[in-house]
Amino acid sequence: MMYTNKKSKQGHKVPILIITLAVIILTVLFGAFSSREVNFEEEIERKVEALLSQMTLEEKIGQMSQVRHFDNNVDDDITAKYLGSIIHTHGPYPGEDAAGWQSRFTELQKKALSTRLGIPLLFAVDAVHGQNTFNGATIFPHNIGLGASGNVQLVEKTAAITALETQATGFNWAFTPCIAIPYNEKWGRVYEAFSESTEMTQEFAKASVRGHQGKLSDSHTVLVTAKHYVGDGATDYGIEGGNTSLTMKEVSERLLPPYRDVVEEGIGAIMVSFNSIDSISMHAHKELITDTLKTGMGFDGIVVSDWQGYFRFGKNDIINAGVDMVMAVDGNLAPFQDSLKKGVQSGVVPMERIDDAVRRILRQKFRLGLFENPFPDTTLAGKIGAPEHRDIARQAVRESLVLLKHEHDVLPIDDEHMEKIVVVGEHANNSGLQSGGWTIGWQGNYKGWRDIAINYSGATTILEGIQQKAQTTVVYDSLGTNPHLDADVAIIVVGETPYAEMFGDIKEEGSEYSLTLSENHQQYIHAYAGKGPKIIVILVSGRPLVTTKQINQSDAFIAAWLPGSEGDGVAEVLFGDYNFSGTLPHSWPKAVEDFEGKYGPNFWDTTITPLYPFGYGLKY
Ligand code: BGC
Repeated sequence: MMYTNKKSKQGHKVPILIITLAVIILTVLFGAFSSREVNFEEEIERKVEALLSQMTLEEKIGQMSQVRHFDNNVDDDITAKYLGSIIHTHGPYPGEDAAGWQSRFTELQKKALSTRLGIPLLFAVDAVHGQNTFNGATIFPHNIGLGASGNVQLVEKTAAITALETQATGFNWAFTPCIAIPYNEKWGRVYEAFSESTEMTQEFAKASVRGHQGKLSDSHTVLVTAKHYVGDGATDYGIEGGNTSLTMKEVSERLLPPYRDVVEEGIGAIMVSFNSIDSISMHAHKELITDTLKTGMGFDGIVVSDWQGYFRFGKNDIINAGVDMVMAVDGNLAPFQDSLKKGVQSGVVPMERIDDAVRRILRQKFRLGLFENPFPDTTLAGKIGAPEHRDIARQAVRESLVLLKHEHDVLPIDDEHMEKIVVVGEHANNSGLQSGGWTIGWQGNYKGWRDIAINYSGATTILEGIQQKAQTTVVYDSLGTNPHLDADVAIIVVGETPYAEMFGDIKEEGSEYSLTLSENHQQYIHAYAGKGPKIIVILVSGRPLVTTKQINQSDAFIAAWLPGSEGDGVAEVLFGDYNFSGTLPHSWPKAVEDFEGKYGPNFWDTTITPLYPFGYGLKY
């Protein structure tokens, strides 16, 4: 005690001195750092102005144009129409393997550099849960699963890996993160977003931008894009691209906070949404794009249109509203460029608006260091699907699982004295099904349009994980045709088939998807209920579904969302290597009827109580 006192008295002046010195050093360092930052930014603005002053109208409109790498005449259009950006979303691959993809983009980049002003191209891709367009990449759980993990640091790590694998396939721009706040599970894009909570979305959005992009001037980074601005997940009845009847005050309080945060984090681009607000198309919403986002929030990056946004949402109105770059895909390039040129020549689109758009595009190209470093880094190709990346993806799978019900100590599975485990359902052994939409193909891993999902390279299925962990016999009944009622435990994997965008909407009529499980999947569970084996149900889905009956029929019920490539992460929790830690990022509906009250235009019907509230999740 004495010793401590003496020491603390004698040492009293020393900490003050140290603290004072530290403050001085930090102030000097910070001063130097921030003045370097200022100089860097000033230098960029000088370069932007110098370049802009040399550009013709055609070159400027060219910078505002984005097409696909396989669109007609793309190679020639780079030089003839001065393209600003190339995208890959789905469709023919740019090459056979990562080196092939890189070399295709190198070839296109060389063409851009050969033009009069040599402005490099931005290469963009929908890397929304890993570099998910590449067969063999690490595929993370979709954002809804990351939201369930509640682990912001983990999201940052998954984003950094995505950035690296995205670069490894030749891209410098990713169309992610989706920071929608879905209010209606009927929307086909619920899984692309982190949560129904504004606050939670804010935290995850920031982490995602930090992880993907960090500082734009870093060498291992990609420009990222928050989407879809704004109201995508808040349309009436959950219709993709529909209208939202939220008031501007509600939009500002509930939907804009994550945008304010990502702008502060320095996000490179923002994609405008297909939906309307109060019947004004978001693409043409000058108040929200120019006044709120650019002027109000101080966003100085690129506002990019969504798919064919120019002709769908008002042509030059969208440019005047503040859209800087247009996805002029599928043969829309020449009509777009002609129409915009006429708009400028006739005075409908002011030249200052064109200059503002081009400044933003050039600014991000300079910030990214594309002029000095225009080509993909060939040393990165070997990093795709690396074991250390998959370890993080497996951790994300484990942490995304939410245990909704647990009875009779069925978990963790103690199979030492068991004779048999039966695994049921096609979702148990199909990495395409467990990964959802935006996996290898736009609508999921498909062989042809809407074909059944199939396995893809490097992925592990849920069944494979169970087989690795189990110490007893595991039998598999893919289509639930042969109930093994002598099994000790039935692990029944049910869920949705993959979908993306409007194809996943649950509509009143003619919808492929439903708020409940298919008859077949209900039957898988029914075949075992009360007949001997203990039942563990794993739901693989992009959203909460009405599963009240199936929850009642089971001993344990797990929401696994869309885990991605590391299906074995599920078994690590089932067999007790790790406990559950995930919690619900959405409240869980009790009945189909609830959707009539809660999810119409009257979003905030507080009389509806969910089966499980937001934040719910058990442990064993
Ligand atoms: C989607 C966007 C996507 C874009 C490019 C659109 O249909 O709404 O999320 O980034 O296509 O693939």
